[in-house]
Amino acid sequence: MSLKKITYLSLFPEIIQSGLSHSLVGKAQEQGLVTLKQVQIRDFSKDKHKSVDDIVYGGGAGMLLKVDVLVEAWSSVSSFEEKQKPITDRPYTILLSPQGKLLTQEKAKTLARDFSELIIVCGHYEGVDERFIELCVDEELSIGDYVLTGGEFAAMVVSDVVIRLIPGVVGNQDSVSGDSLEGGLLKEPVYTRPREFMGKAVPEVLLSGNHALIEKWRLDQSLKRTAAKRPDLNSKK
Ligand code: ADE
Repeated sequence: MSLKKITYLSLFPEIIQSGLSHSLVGKAQEQGLVTLKQVQIRDFSKDKHKSVDDIVYGGGAGMLLKVDVLVEAWSSVSSFEEKQKPITDRPYTILLSPQGKLLTQEKAKTLARDFSELIIVCGHYEGVDERFIELCVDEELSIGDYVLTGGEFAAMVVSDVVIRLIPGVVGNQDSVSGDSLEGGLLKEPVYTRPREFMGKAVPEVLLSGNHALIEKWRLDQSLKRTAAKRPDLNSKK
């Protein structure tokens, strides 16, 4: 299986739409490799002010996204009946939140490979009513240990990482398998023309035409870089 569709529930769908309409991700949509659908949460508010948030029971700072509005919005693209099915046979609902599991390249691979449709819910304000998470969300995901004003930028990050892994999106699959972080290693230093710039020359081995030697050099550089810049990566493997 591979990912075909992502639906976003958001208060600012235009941010996500425009952020993902360029470059390889934009092209992937034009080519029909992935479909992105935007749902405006506010459209599902039933009161005359179209309000989507409310104060926190028990007191506390900020406002929360309301469970009834969120469930209505979610029900426009999924259902409780569908949620009974195995997770691989229905849309998989992700809530973006700093409380979620950290997004990694490995996690992105799972999302691109094991699901055909994702629903990504962008939180806002101080968070969402816990009952929405209990009722509708399969997994909470965070893009890092910091707090964003809302989930839209996180949605773009998750989407970019995941869409890039859909077969056919990146023309040359070697560039995906040679990515930094593949196999727990950073990528080696890379160079293009000119051969020399401001007294700095491209390493001689890369001009040697000896592929075995070049591969050995690349792996060696990769190991050295990882040890120097991200020693934590080895221990994570
Ligand atoms: N919303 C607010 N902060 C976030 C984070 N770090 N990751 C995902 N969604 C968020």
